[in-house]
Amino acid sequence: MTDATGRRARATFPDVPGLAFGGDYNPEQWPRETWREDVRLMQEAGVTLVSVGIFSWGLIEIREGEFDFGWLDEVLDLLHDGGISVDLGTPTASPPAWFFAAHPESRVQTAEGTRLGFGSRGMVSPSSPAYREAIVRIATALAERYAHHPAVVMWHVHNEYGAPVSEDHSPASNDAFRAWLRERYGSLDALNDAWGTAFWGQHYEEWEHISTPAATPTIANPAQKLDFHRFSDHQLRACFVAERDGIRRHSDLPVTTNFMANQHGGCDLWEWAQLVDVVSDDHYLVAADPHPEIGLAIAADLTRSVAGGAPWMLMEHSTSGINWQPTGVAKRPGEMARNSLAHVAHGADAVMFFQWRASRRGAEKFHSAMLPHAGTDSRVWREVVQLGADVAALAEVRGSRVEADVAVLWDYESFWAQDLEWRPVDDLDHGERVRAFYERLRADGLTVDFALPGHDLSRYPLVVAPAQYMLRARDAENLTRYVAGGGTLVVSSFSAVVDENDGVHPGGFLSPLRDALGVDVEEYLPLARGTSADIVWSDGSVSPADHWQEHLRLAGAEVRATYAAGGGAGLPAVTRGSHGAGHGWYVSTRLSADALSGVFRGAYADAGITPRPRDEGLEIVRRRSDAASYTFAINHADHDREIAIAGTDLLSGETAGSFAVPAGSVRVIRHDLT
Ligand code: GLA
Repeated sequence: MTDATGRRARATFPDVPGLAFGGDYNPEQWPRETWREDVRLMQEAGVTLVSVGIFSWGLIEIREGEFDFGWLDEVLDLLHDGGISVDLGTPTASPPAWFFAAHPESRVQTAEGTRLGFGSRGMVSPSSPAYREAIVRIATALAERYAHHPAVVMWHVHNEYGAPVSEDHSPASNDAFRAWLRERYGSLDALNDAWGTAFWGQHYEEWEHISTPAATPTIANPAQKLDFHRFSDHQLRACFVAERDGIRRHSDLPVTTNFMANQHGGCDLWEWAQLVDVVSDDHYLVAADPHPEIGLAIAADLTRSVAGGAPWMLMEHSTSGINWQPTGVAKRPGEMARNSLAHVAHGADAVMFFQWRASRRGAEKFHSAMLPHAGTDSRVWREVVQLGADVAALAEVRGSRVEADVAVLWDYESFWAQDLEWRPVDDLDHGERVRAFYERLRADGLTVDFALPGHDLSRYPLVVAPAQYMLRARDAENLTRYVAGGGTLVVSSFSAVVDENDGVHPGGFLSPLRDALGVDVEEYLPLARGTSADIVWSDGSVSPADHWQEHLRLAGAEVRATYAAGGGAGLPAVTRGSHGAGHGWYVSTRLSADALSGVFRGAYADAGITPRPRDEGLEIVRRRSDAASYTFAINHADHDREIAIAGTDLLSGETAGSFAVPAGSVRVIRHDLT
């Protein structure tokens, strides 16, 4: 493959047939005899790709600069002989004991000043110069040795950047933070202004006096904390880039690192996705969630969106229970396949697990695996073998794209800012708001792309902003242009409050969107804890609302609902504005997904969208290639459903004009477009 300039273009997906199937493989935990059995059983399960070496630094570089590749050579050869491809890890999430003995200053320092010790993982400072040097050495050595090994088809750098800690207050981190701030602000005047240091007497005259926001008597400067969050993410990315570039000196194979899209925390995945050749994600169901399949769909849609719509890899999920949540609920029969195929429905071209064989020792021995402690005479193994066959049957889906109907804004920086301390109430939860709006759209049969407020949104008839607390002036202009151009924008409460430095917009709350929405906010009126206040729609119907109200100031919008009680009694609660050729809706209180139907009925009409309400529990997502469309019908409910789509079910081979979707099952219906 060459690009327009005649150079060899880097592949954006590993060279494996069809959809990749497999998981993390940690042979170093097992005697050699087991390796042969592993390969045989991988073949039985239809495994095509395994991630190797993610935590084996100390067994590869046994002393600084002294390498033992023997066992890894043997493992890779065995896998290759067995027809299994390898996603080769760089083991930098867990530096060896010799590294910390030689470089104790590289240990992470908490905000309280505690140095974190060896004997776990992820305990190293991303700003440590010694660490930076060591990761480039090991990544480059691996690439040099294995770039042309026939088993190796891609590189897996590090593991889950930012986990378990992303922030470090060591001296190295302080030095790097100051350098990053100099670069960002250029002058102390600009920094003092951006951080609002005139408040509480925090003015700086020397760069050397600035530190990371370590433990303080009461809350630290919010703009400083927000910048520290950005800086911490930047440092992790710099570590990734250092390794990636070391690998690229020897190899053209695609490079990835596994994201955690369902954690709204440390890493700005929009930025990260620009750095990898293929996006990959780890997803674990939240056991306490009564509908974990919705969290899964959100994470998968987000992963696809940061990948720019390109196929992505589900790098890890679990076959059954996990050991790091309060209760590791085991998956019910069929649930693993539903989860796996739901990821594929939302754009994944790989179905991978943590991990191949359950570990006998160490921290994760109670974590499920493809090959459980119980061995092959087990429900999990039988389901894994069946799933391998199902994934193989979907080979032709590879490369097809998901068709989305609407965009929902997802802005990490805004989430980080909203999570700072001392807001009008301490439980304003962006994740909860995104989920409520997403659930409404999903119930109406619409597929969601996520986007940033600065993206070109013109291809979406409807854009929803459930939690856009921070909104840059230029992004507000982008949203306003989108509405003027004929788009429909729905914005939720406590949005467009601050600028990129957590400073309230000069025109007041919501002022940057005043033109687009025809309304702004005079005052926030949070409801006392545990109280609620209904809203009354213009047709007289009533919806429950709770938690939060706002005193809106109309600037051209019409009122669609008013508050029936609370501090806002009689004031507008939901408004619809017109701007240019489009419309802007504003929802100033907390409405459940059900209550939001009153907003979306109107917004769909403005946007020209016809909702496709589905039977409860039946998820429908469509992927499309030039030749065919693939309708994934996933029945999460415990009763049978029916879908009226003609085609061929790739999983059963059946061709029909409509299909029963039995309780808990999945259909993938191919429909030819030519
Ligand atoms: C994460 C890690 C894996 C493993 C799993 C367990 O995703 O990447 O190494 O710890 O969690 O769920």
